[in-house]
This record gives sequence, structure tokens and C-alpha cells, in this order.
Amino acid sequence: MAFDSGLSGTGHLISAAMEEKAAITVLVTGAAGQLGRALCDSAWPGLAVTGVTRADCDLTDGDAVARLVATTAPDVVINAAAYTAVDKAESEPGRAFAVNRDGPGHLAAACARHGAALIHVSTDYVFDGSGDRPRREDDPTGPLGVYGASKLAGEEAVRARLPRHVILRTSWVYSATGGNFVKTMLRVGAERDRLTIVRDQQGCPTAADDLAGAAALVAGRLAAAPETAPTGTFHYSGTGTTTWFDFAVEIFRQAAAYGRPVPELVPITTADYPTPARRPANSVLDCARIAAAYGVARPPWPESLRPVIAALCRI
Ligand SMILES: NC(=O)c1ccc[n+]([C@@H]2O[C@H](COP(=O)([O-])OP(=O)(O)OC[C@H]3O[C@@H](n4cnc5c(N)ncnc54)[C@H](OP(=O)(O)O)[C@@H]3O)[C@@H](O)[C@H]2O)c1
Repeated sequence: MAFDSGLSGTGHLISAAMEEKAAITVLVTGAAGQLGRALCDSAWPGLAVTGVTRADCDLTDGDAVARLVATTAPDVVINAAAYTAVDKAESEPGRAFAVNRDGPGHLAAACARHGAALIHVSTDYVFDGSGDRPRREDDPTGPLGVYGASKLAGEEAVRARLPRHVILRTSWVYSATGGNFVKTMLRVGAERDRLTIVRDQQGCPTAADDLAGAAALVAGRLAAAPETAPTGTFHYSGTGTTTWFDFAVEIFRQAAAYGRPVPELVPITTADYPTPARRPANSVLDCARIAAAYGVARPPWPESLRPVIAALCRI
């Protein structure tokens, strides 16, 4: 099985994929990101995974995307690339839309030309976060900021160009690499005695490794059963709802076992912590549809947090 971290040159990656054409070939964009790394750093039975970074192929360049898909001839593309700087997007809407709307549009068009399926990863931020009920896939969208609006436009670009797609909306992604809440908490917790953390936004933390497992399972089914594998929009997150404050409490509880300092944690409201982009108060996704269609595992989020804390605290 071909396996590559996706962090070397495209030529090498492409030849790795071609040599293993007998396996289902999966092309992963955003290979240096949290989800992309999780996909490229694991061996998935029956899948030959090829990862590409922005340096290999900038998704905003339609010709480069077309060339990439034509050369690698994947069975399935997983788009884990995105402009994810939620606050910065407010002042860079052109860049956010170029990556999050036009990029998936180029990928979907290339997949349509080459008979590949596309798993496109999207976000809870397409919703406005009102009410207490977990959001279902067909609930009305209503992004509060540029990032959410650009991701929603990306979903629409995929739906318009490629029937054989799976849009996988997820929330609160973290891993031992990249920038995320878990790493930020451990860093600032080592620097300060007291942290104030928002307690009026609720959601479901999702380990990048769990999300990668779900995406790999879906990719395998899309390739093995092109006519019957379920397509459309699905929600996937870790099991269990929490708030940013209670997420932090659990991060420091687990990190304390490795001798990490535990700062005083003070709950605050969103109004106490103004940010350029508004965030949904309720980010909880109803994940029943993907569980029924694909039988994916959705471990309780504190359980999935454990190996990440172990990896970060053993460093
Ligand atoms: N992180 C979360 O909490 C969260 C929550 C909900 C949904 N999601 C979604 O989940 C997916 C994966 O997120 P993640 O946390 O793994 O993101 P991430 O760590 O920010 O990684 C995104 C990757 O995309 C690459 N990228 C950016 N612009 C690109 C371009 N023009 N062409 C090619 N690659 C480009 C980035 O490369 P550079 O570093 O070089 O820019 C980066 O490696 C995204 O679709 C995101 O919207 C994330």
C-alpha cells in the first residue's frame, strides 16, 4: 500500500499512487493541516493515500487542480484544505472565498471529468447557532461570518458540479499538530496562573484522527460501491456536548496526570470576549445520518482527547 506523509514533492507522490493502482487511490488535499496529516499519517486498509500540500497544488488555481486530478487519477479525493482563520477571514473575504468556495469548485469539476468521487469537509459555522437542538443536515443554514459563508459557498459549488460527493460537516477539530484549542490551552496554561474561557458556546470536540477514520471509511465505500454508497451532506463530530470552558477543564484535568500546571479557570460569556468574527452559540451537530448510512465510530470526545494530551504532554 502506498503511503506518504504528503510533505515531499508532487512527482514522488504521484508515482507512489500510480505504482499502487490496484488499491483504491485517495488523493488528500491540505496534507499539512490537522485532518490532512491525520489522513496521510495512518495506514488505511485497502486505500493508497497520496497527500498534497499548498506548495504542491494551490486549490485556487483551477488549471493546477485539473492537472493534479488528471495526473493522479484518484478514485476519491478528500478535500481537507481550507482557509481556516475564522477571525482573519473578516478582513480577507476575497482570499477566504477563493480557497473555500473556488477551490472545492475546481476540485469538483475535475472529479466530474475524471469519474472520481469527492469528500469535501465543511463546518458547523454554516449555521447561525440559534436554539438548543443539535443541527441536522437539512436544517436552514445562516453563517454568522465570512469563514462560514465561504464554506457554505464551497458546499454549494460542490453540489452544483458533482453528484457523487459527500460533504462532511464537522466541528471543534483538534490534533497533536497544527493550531487548535487544545494546544493553545496547554501553551497559555503554562504561561499564566488564571485563564478566562467562554462558557456560553456549546459544541462537540472532534479529534482529527476520528474524523480521518470516518473519511477513510466513506472513501473506501464510495470507491468500492460507486452506484450505491450514500452521497450528500453528513455531519460528523465526537460524541458528547461541551462548552469551551468545560473542554478546557477536561484538557487540564488530563494534562495534570503528566505533571502539567493547572491554572485557575474562570468562565466568561461571549460578550466578555469580543472577536472580529461572531461564532455560533450552539455548534452541536446531529450525526445520526452518517452513523446510519456508514456505521462510523464516534468515540466520546474525552476518550479521543486522551492520546492527544499524551502526545503533547510527553514532548
Ligand atoms: N479546525 C476546526 O476546528 C474545524 C472545525 C470545523 C470544520 N473544519 C474544517 O475541517 C477541514 C480541515 O480543517 P483543519 O483543522 O485540518 O485545517 P488546517 O489545519 O487549517 O489545514 C488546512 C490546510 O489547508 C491548506 N490550504 C490553505 N489554503 C490552500 C490552498 N489555496 N491550496 C491548497 N491548500 C491550502 C493549508 O495550508 P497552509 O498552511 O499552507 O495555508 C493547511 O495545510 C477544513 O475544511 C475546515 O474548514 C475545521
